[in-house]
Amino acid sequence: MSGPPPELPIVLLDALMPTAQRLVLNRRGSMVWEVKSPRGHYAVKVGYPIEATPDYPAQPWTALAPAREGAVLHRLGVTNFAYGEWDHGTWNFQPWHEGPDLHELWQPYRTGTPLIAPHTGAALGCAEALAELHTKGWAHGDVQPAHFIIGPERTHLIDLALARGGHVPEGYDFPFRGCLVHYEAPEIAQSVLTTGEAEPTQAADIYALGASLLISATGWRAVEYPDDAPRPVQRQAVADGRRRTVRAPGKLGELIEAMLSHAPQDRPTVYEVGKALS
Ligand SMILES: Nc1ncnc2c1ncn2[C@@H]1O[C@H](COP(=O)(O)OP(=O)(O)O)[C@@H](O)[C@H]1O
Ligand SMILES: [Mg+2]
Repeated sequence: MSGPPPELPIVLLDALMPTAQRLVLNRRGSMVWEVKSPRGHYAVKVGYPIEATPDYPAQPWTALAPAREGAVLHRLGVTNFAYGEWDHGTWNFQPWHEGPDLHELWQPYRTGTPLIAPHTGAALGCAEALAELHTKGWAHGDVQPAHFIIGPERTHLIDLALARGGHVPEGYDFPFRGCLVHYEAPEIAQSVLTTGEAEPTQAADIYALGASLLISATGWRAVEYPDDAPRPVQRQAVADGRRRTVRAPGKLGELIEAMLSHAPQDRPTVYEVGKALS
């Protein structure tokens, strides 16, 4: 989508009557706005298909992601959201959560030399947000530092577009093809390499939480591979468990090691993580 700056689809202008709006991001088939309206303060997500390029195949599923997330929010019993279709895909709006994400919040810790042990309060908030989802029988599938918003009262886990655990209408569903490789569990990376798809699990969410805490606390990825390596090469390094030796300082370090266990059954549950942090 090149050309003039994107505008909110008419259907959303009609539904929300914004008094203020700000484009937060527009990338990889997804646009997000912060919208203030008499109805409330919302994150508005608008999906569109990614056209094929010489290097990458087309990705029509990005158009469906907001509606898929809307269906998941509905299943989870979230209120104060809506979803639907526009000319080029689907949209949703949901309550706006104020606050830094985990990576932003821990910036001061990872830039100290030597590293300073982060306060574990934020880590506990992340574990509690993930536990809320796991208790309902769901796996998130795309746990990463940017998806934990640390609010004044509680931490919110956002971007449920890839979550698995209940019925999603067929017209809005699409297969899980992995997430950001930095946070992909070895068994997910292996499955994506072998079949092109994988099944999100709660154990894989725990690995991703461990990798998120590690990168936010230290600035280092869990697995060793060159930044510019092709995606399959990165995935192979993850599947092979080529762990860096870097550890987070303090008691968090030990817990993260357990969360990053190569075998899913060796990882703690989110409840065990919460207990260790409280
Ligand atoms: N409910 C929300 N509250 C506050 N910020 C949000 C919310 N939803 C999305 N955002 C912002 O938009 C960014 C992208 O949203 P995300 O749900 O991850 O969409 P994408 O599918 O494009 O990854 C987030 O990293 C965050 O900065
Ligand atoms: Mg996201």
